[in-house]
Amino acid sequence: MGLSKGNFKIISSGHYTPEGVLTNKDLEKIVETSDEWITTRTGIKERRISDGKTTSDLATLAAKNAIEKANYDKEDIDLIIVATFTAEIRSPSVACRVQAKLGLDKPGLLAFDINAACTGFIYALNIAERMLQTGAYKAALVIGSEVISRVTDYKDRNTCVLFGDGAGAVIIEKDESKEVVFSVQTKSDEDLILYVDDYVSMNGPKVYQFASRIIQSSVNAVLEHGNIDKDSIRKIIPHQANIRIIQSASKALKMPMDSFYVNIHKYGNTSAASIPIALDEMLETEKINSGDKIILVGFGAGLTSGACSLTF
Ligand code: UT7
Repeated sequence: MGLSKGNFKIISSGHYTPEGVLTNKDLEKIVETSDEWITTRTGIKERRISDGKTTSDLATLAAKNAIEKANYDKEDIDLIIVATFTAEIRSPSVACRVQAKLGLDKPGLLAFDINAACTGFIYALNIAERMLQTGAYKAALVIGSEVISRVTDYKDRNTCVLFGDGAGAVIIEKDESKEVVFSVQTKSDEDLILYVDDYVSMNGPKVYQFASRIIQSSVNAVLEHGNIDKDSIRKIIPHQANIRIIQSASKALKMPMDSFYVNIHKYGNTSAASIPIALDEMLETEKINSGDKIILVGFGAGLTSGACSLTF
């Protein structure tokens, strides 16, 4: 496992989800499925679908939400990293489009994308943290943004019921009093059990098995490396792919379901956006005190996986 310790402070967070709602009932009219099957097998009730807004539009709206909430001086941002696999154009990157849409042009500002599928936001945070440590950057805007509806085959019931669109963002700055611990890795996937070419394709049960195991081992790796007591964790924010995967992680980790933040019923799986959207919603709805620790954990195509603990 790629284990590391560092530090940063979350200055602000934000998210944006498109207004268009696609419910399980709507999907019943498109493919042979049922609200009952989707709800019991996945926990998803509805997902948001972009009405023409691009991945960089969603990312920019999430970033603006984070900037406005903290009344943050956007001119302080000198690093923008976007995690995505659904860039609207091949080049320039979504991060460069976000920079332009936010009107940022600080000398030395660096903007680029990374693609680590559903683990992308955690990888991006890890990279941003290392770059802040160099002292060359003051503030990083880290975003997960996806328009997965563009690469979803609405004739394939195995996948189309699972995914949705959205974006989440955080602004972070170096802060030595706020320790972060990362455990990240990529496991070789010769059989391509999960991939995207024109459309998302996957072997659901195989991905499910991988996910159920990796959440537990990634969280345990972070707890061990950071010498963190499990009982001191305020909340775990898992990638929102399937409620049953979260339930099995809860059982394996011996942590009750209410220690996991869940919003899958509203948005489905938004890949790299799922963790930052959930993080922002959690910070809006739950009282998090200074010193509290939470853990983010994700997995996805690659097979990528990772977890990190954050200190508030
Ligand atoms: O971000 C990471 C990306 N992906 C994931 O994390 C997905 C991980 N995997 C899963 O969440 C689950 O494997 C699924 C939700 C995709 C599928 O659930 P499952 O319990 O593993 O079902 P299954 O694939 O074993 O299929 C069971 C049955 C099959 O019918 P038969 O062959 O038993 O007659 C499927 O054809 O359910 C059928 N099925 C459906 N039925 C109604 C598959 N999709 C649907 C559907 N509606 N949408």
